[in-house]
Amino acid sequence: MKWLKEGEAEFLAEVSGGERGPGKRSGVFYNPAMKLSRDLTVLVAAGLMRGRGEILFFDALAGSGVRGLRVLKEGPSLSGGRVRCIFSDISRDAAESIEKSLKRNFAEGEVFEGDARELFHTIKADFLDIDPYGSPAPYLPEALRSVRHGGILAITATDTAPLSGTYPTTCLRRYLAWSEKVEFLKEMALRILLGYAVRVAASRDVCLKPLLSYYKDHYLRAFLQVSRSRGRAREALRSVAHILLRRGSLGRRVVWIYRGGWEKPRDLQLIGPLWVGETSDVRFLKGLKDLPAGERYGEALSLVDTLSEETGYPPWYYEVNEVARALRSEPLSMEKVKERLGEGGFRFSRTHYSATAFKTDAPGEQLEEILYGGGI
Ligand SMILES: C[S@@+](CC[C@H](N)C(=O)[O-])C[C@H]1O[C@@H](n2cnc3c(N)ncnc32)[C@H](O)[C@@H]1O
Repeated sequence: MKWLKEGEAEFLAEVSGGERGPGKRSGVFYNPAMKLSRDLTVLVAAGLMRGRGEILFFDALAGSGVRGLRVLKEGPSLSGGRVRCIFSDISRDAAESIEKSLKRNFAEGEVFEGDARELFHTIKADFLDIDPYGSPAPYLPEALRSVRHGGILAITATDTAPLSGTYPTTCLRRYLAWSEKVEFLKEMALRILLGYAVRVAASRDVCLKPLLSYYKDHYLRAFLQVSRSRGRAREALRSVAHILLRRGSLGRRVVWIYRGGWEKPRDLQLIGPLWVGETSDVRFLKGLKDLPAGERYGEALSLVDTLSEETGYPPWYYEVNEVARALRSEPLSMEKVKERLGEGGFRFSRTHYSATAFKTDAPGEQLEEILYGGGI
């Protein structure tokens, strides 16, 4: 390890990378290629200081601490405001280096050694910086608790391969979104990251608003304004959508998912993303039926029977009255529906969702012919 300098800060670290690209994950990490990200952090933090007078900056995955040290040294003179800084890192070496670097810079700060996620429950910062190896996704839900209303959450992601379509299934797991190798894959990657952050936040009544976000070299970075507001969280979801493309064509289209359906054509509806696998496990249900349960469990066991019957079908049911309305016909009795589906070689089940609904493996487009082809 040696003493290094970036901006106004001197710090103890190992140089873990070069002018470009990711750094090696070892020792007290310092990647010079991320200087731009730190320069911007200082500027954004200074802007916040100017607005708020004094801020608490939380450098949660601090490494050498260079980011927080620069905010401490450069922020006040840029803004005329004040800053207190908390550093944390899971590595003991990193925490010890930060203590030494604070002394070297005649600066004050609190340093914690440990998992940042534990601190998120107690620290309320104006600016929280999440700069992990790889993805910020594992930190996001708890990090949202650690930022004050009107404050800033900054995230870095270096897992560009999943986000930009090289590993779509990893992207799906990590960000609950599908990526593909499209022409604008860097923009797609940034938008998937932002969309995920906005969705996770909205589920906790928090609105995230991108203030500054970009993709550069091997990483993505976003500065997000945090508002604790259900209304704004709901509003932010209106800007989350799918993009529909046709291979070999330049045609592209936004498909809105949280605005109550497609914008066009109006007769189509889009719901989801939703679970389309089985909603109950038949073997598990059978195990319940095998229990020596008496009459007092009658209703529960009857529900278990219905749930068992309705597995193995497409992920929707049909209301007899709605089928009749759509086909401009009279509603059929449930017995008739069962009989006609059976005659057509299709399966039928009642469903626990509604006494007047049924499930079937018959295609919806053929229901008119199957149910009403022979008259009422
Ligand atoms: C990419 S480095 C941070 C670089 C630093 N922010 C900078 O600007 O140079 C990621 C750091 O996160 C630390 N880390 C990993 N998991 C952590 C966790 N759960 N809590 C706190 N720190 C963690 C690592 O020890 C490593 O120092």
